[in-house]
Amino acid sequence: ILLNRKSGSQVSSLRVPKEPQNKVTVVLGAQWGDEGKGKVVDLLAMDADIVCRCQGGNNAGHTVVVDSVEYDFHLLPSGVLNKKATSFIGNGVVIHLPGLFEEAEKNLQKGLQGWEERLKISDRAHIVFNFHQAVDGIQEQQRQQQEGKNLGTTKKGIGPAYSSKAARNGLRVCDLVGDITVFEDKFRLLAEHFQRMYQNLNINIENELEQLKGFAERLRPLVTDGVYFMHKALNGPSKKILVEGANAALLDIDFGTYPFVTSSNCTVGGVCTGLGVPPSHVGRVYGVVKAYTTRVGVGAFPTELNNETGDLLQSRGREFGVTTGRRRRCGWLDLILVRYAHMVNGFSAIALTKLDILDTLPEIKVGVAYKVNGKPLPSFPANMDVLTRVTVEYETLPGWCCSTEAVRSFEELPPQAQSYIRFIEDFLQVPVKWVGVGKSRESMIKLF
Ligand SMILES: *[C@@H]1O[C@H](CO)[C@@H](O)[C@H](O)[C@H]1NC(C)=O
Ligand SMILES: *[C@@H]1O[C@H](CO)[C@@H](O)[C@H](O)[C@H]1NC(C)=O
Repeated sequence: ILLNRKSGSQVSSLRVPKEPQNKVTVVLGAQWGDEGKGKVVDLLAMDADIVCRCQGGNNAGHTVVVDSVEYDFHLLPSGVLNKKATSFIGNGVVIHLPGLFEEAEKNLQKGLQGWEERLKISDRAHIVFNFHQAVDGIQEQQRQQQEGKNLGTTKKGIGPAYSSKAARNGLRVCDLVGDITVFEDKFRLLAEHFQRMYQNLNINIENELEQLKGFAERLRPLVTDGVYFMHKALNGPSKKILVEGANAALLDIDFGTYPFVTSSNCTVGGVCTGLGVPPSHVGRVYGVVKAYTTRVGVGAFPTELNNETGDLLQSRGREFGVTTGRRRRCGWLDLILVRYAHMVNGFSAIALTKLDILDTLPEIKVGVAYKVNGKPLPSFPANMDVLTRVTVEYETLPGWCCSTEAVRSFEELPPQAQSYIRFIEDFLQVPVKWVGVGKSRESMIKLF
């Protein structure tokens, strides 16, 4: 059309700026993970047409409770519970196939139905092999021996798989469902590469290849050109598209507390690179913030509570990892950290989760500034040595000392709890849209 001089009107109509049609709604973790994103996603997924994952692998974990059945999701978008929605695993995700099918199987036994008809997988997504997982374990062991501390990875092979991706010898879904002999050759090369690097790594190449060939057949009908899939979804008839972030801002490979981070982009940019979506199609971005702070594994944690209050949060909040069962460290809400996550993500609104866990505390502190050697820091430091040395300035707010679990509206919340929420909004200059006071779907109070 552009080259045809006669159809001038069509050329000029192209030059009239068009409003992007459908936009994606994004849900992201705003702390160190485990904020309860699953619950917010589940809420929004109920009337979504498409629910997408754009990064990470089965190292993340979401629990969704529906009719008192607890579903655990690691790789499957939790929107897969919605029978009217299509679930999509984008190119930015790394997929461990045995893990994917095992997860589906476990949830099938709990009542999930027909997931294979509702799931699409990008042909550009990279594959996590069993040896990536073995290497993850060996690397953690080496770090423990050499530095006396490990990264606390989930040993799901996510880091090594993203390393292969960046090293340009990784294998993708399109390779597995393509010419299998070409795939076999590349697979052997990659396996041998890792075998040379790690002497005590045992890879049963033939076994794993056999297993993969079986998976290839089950996978084939689910595989799609992810870029084209998203393009059609964004430019076709009106659709509600949801992107569920995995991990969280402070675990982002670039913006997180490096090196104690995950290997993907858990901030908003990952939505574009992990799905092939233009930035102009990114709509609302919701940050999920737990009413206090938790962190798994090692690394600096300025507002950590190493006393009974920390233990109380840990036990009341049932702070154990969904993927690993590890006990999470607990501390006061750190708003310096959340504000930093907001600088990167530009949250439209916030979902404040697990407020009820604070129900028994007579007073609640909130971290509002960092100082090093008596000097205030303007923002969240990049250097972990600095983060270890900060002293936190707190605002002390009165607790409410009564149960909020049965509350279903903002007005019913005790005034002290309302003030706690308003304090967070004022500090961040972002509205709180939901407040979580329990595990069920109904316990997410909607403010507006
Ligand atoms: C994450 O973002 C960086 C840019 O900092 C990019 O180089 C990298 O490929 C991205 N990683 C993934 C896993 O998408
Ligand atoms: C734990 O330490 C914090 C320090 O920030 C304090 O506010 C809290 O009262 C302490 N809890 C107990 C039970 O001593």
